[in-house]
Amino acid sequence: MRKKIVAGNWKMNTLPAEGVELTKGVVAGRGEVCKCVDFIVCPPFTHLSTVAEALKGSDIALGAQNCAAEEKGAYTGEVAASMIAALGCKYVILGHSERRQYYGETSATLNKKMVQAYANNLTPIYCVGENLEEREAGKHFDVVKAQIEEVVYNLTAEQFKNLVIAYEPVWAIGTGKTATAEQAQEIHAYIRKVLASKFGAAADECAILYGGSCKPSNAAEIFAKEDVDGGLIGGAALKAEDFLAIGKGFEK
Ligand code: PGA
Repeated sequence: MRKKIVAGNWKMNTLPAEGVELTKGVVAGRGEVCKCVDFIVCPPFTHLSTVAEALKGSDIALGAQNCAAEEKGAYTGEVAASMIAALGCKYVILGHSERRQYYGETSATLNKKMVQAYANNLTPIYCVGENLEEREAGKHFDVVKAQIEEVVYNLTAEQFKNLVIAYEPVWAIGTGKTATAEQAQEIHAYIRKVLASKFGAAADECAILYGGSCKPSNAAEIFAKEDVDGGLIGGAALKAEDFLAIGKGFEK
């Protein structure tokens, strides 16, 4: 049985106190959602310790939105994987399209970040996805294939067992546009096939999340698809009620 995961990517939102309030809301309502769903919250670095504190006693996991490509040293402004792990993170989002697009993250950088994540027992949530131009040109399959081959194929079989993939069509992120459930299923199944050609049957165990304007009103339909194992949620993760309601999408 594959894991069902709902992960919240807060991006650069909330002040620390607001982050704690949001976390408390999620913790308070978590009992209303099936235990079969794993929840993860990924606040900004600055909130990791206070959010970790607010999560204590709950089964909600903590993740970071990024980590450095290097282990430690003279890298002003960077945050090492060991530092986020020490604050209680179990997950780290890597390769988000905003990191690729605005901060020039390439497969070469992401390979180094993967090494750091695994060295610190973090599970990467590795993001892939095409932009609008690539989708319209029918290149979306090739784009995600390359993003997987250039990074995920470098993992060992053991590391691959500890990986979550997020498919995030860039044209659907923060735009209010969502891929249809059929579009999501089509590419998730394709991603699983690409994973299987390297890792065999282990690909059946890998959780593949959908991200891109996923919200309470569309989660159930998308999550009902065979190869969709949950969501990486941006905007709708900033309201405890909506975030939890997305988790309930598995029950419908
Ligand atoms: P969105 O963001 O839900 O606000 O579209 C998703 C993401 O980028 O992780």
